[in-house]
Amino acid sequence: MLIPEVTDSHNFALRTRLNRNETNSMTHTSPLQIDLNNCRLPIDEASSLPAACYHSESILKQEHALIFQHHWLGLGRADRFTTPGQFETVEISNVPLILMMDNQGELHAFNNACRHRGARLLNGNGSTTGIRCPFHSWYYGTDGRLVSAPQMENTKGFCKEAAGLVEFSLRIHAGFIFVCFNPDPPDFDKHIGDFDEIHAPWPIDTLVSTRRISIEVNCNWKLFLDVFNEYYHLQSVHPSSLNDTYYTPDPADTTLGNYASQFGETQGSSGLLQEQQEQVLPLIPGLTGREKNGTRYSWIYPNMAFAVSPEAMWIYEAYPISPGRCLAYQTLCFPPSSVKLDDFETRAEFYYERFDAAVEEDRIALENQQKGMNSPFTIPRRYSTIMEPSVGAFASWYNTQLQPS
Ligand code: FES
Ligand SMILES: [Fe+2]
Repeated sequence: MLIPEVTDSHNFALRTRLNRNETNSMTHTSPLQIDLNNCRLPIDEASSLPAACYHSESILKQEHALIFQHHWLGLGRADRFTTPGQFETVEISNVPLILMMDNQGELHAFNNACRHRGARLLNGNGSTTGIRCPFHSWYYGTDGRLVSAPQMENTKGFCKEAAGLVEFSLRIHAGFIFVCFNPDPPDFDKHIGDFDEIHAPWPIDTLVSTRRISIEVNCNWKLFLDVFNEYYHLQSVHPSSLNDTYYTPDPADTTLGNYASQFGETQGSSGLLQEQQEQVLPLIPGLTGREKNGTRYSWIYPNMAFAVSPEAMWIYEAYPISPGRCLAYQTLCFPPSSVKLDDFETRAEFYYERFDAAVEEDRIALENQQKGMNSPFTIPRRYSTIMEPSVGAFASWYNTQLQPS
């Protein structure tokens, strides 16, 4: 069993004594393990993740191996790739990644390292007709095949066909890109479970990306996703921007698969600031019933969460940079019928303004939370069952990854 190793000094002993008062002092189980196990309890009994999960280098190493390099990761929307040769680079969990559309329009995920002697191949985002290694000029096609390798004729057994770029598994589902670094990826259908049924009212796969931005925040990647998936902070963190829009949400959905979801009705548009509600764009065609007046927040584990409202969808991906810092991408999507409107760009600006404002308010709260989580004396505890069930559901799933039973 893999138990996160915590090397906090004598201060951790104090936390041990504190925890013993609340947990099973008859066992030899470490306090951290007890805290982690408590995350698997039903939400009304569960503990939140131990603070070490948000600041420990050794736990981040385990997350790299057991979560980021094992599971399917959500990499945002596929429709941002539109032309052959278009590529993006990003580093995820120490893996330098190229996402590239080939000349046939198929999307690939490549390890961003040459098959000769490992040089990094591409930087940034852009478009290319092929990939030339900057070190000794091996040349790869947009589909990752090695096209040419100068002066290799005398190398015995060298086979160009076997020296293409290392390629990772990639799936597109509901318009989202999923990539798995694991050479033996977990079953994707099990991963996604009943996602399609729960999200059936919204034509998610047809929604069009209109803006994607990246941000870095001085908080653990899980805190970034936690706050997106809970309603509890709205009154304190977004009192004059968003709070009045949201009613108390429904209980969380019971889901099959590696995701959590919670629907809640809203008063007006959750995609707009509360004083700009008159700027609302048309509804997603075909919506009926409560979906016309509410927003569904879903977290596809481990790293991508989104909300779909009556007229828009917004997505966050989060990746660890260090235990206390993360890189996140935010994408906004609208139905094609709205994007075609003559005044769409002007009206979409009001949505962008809402997301810029909200993410800045969240950033202040998250960076403040991280400072508390960094303390060896911090003992996070219980959830609001109505307002934070998705945070608890993720913590339970996370626990089973770090401590498989
Ligand atoms: S490392 Fe790329 S060609 Fe040598
Ligand atoms: Fe928020």
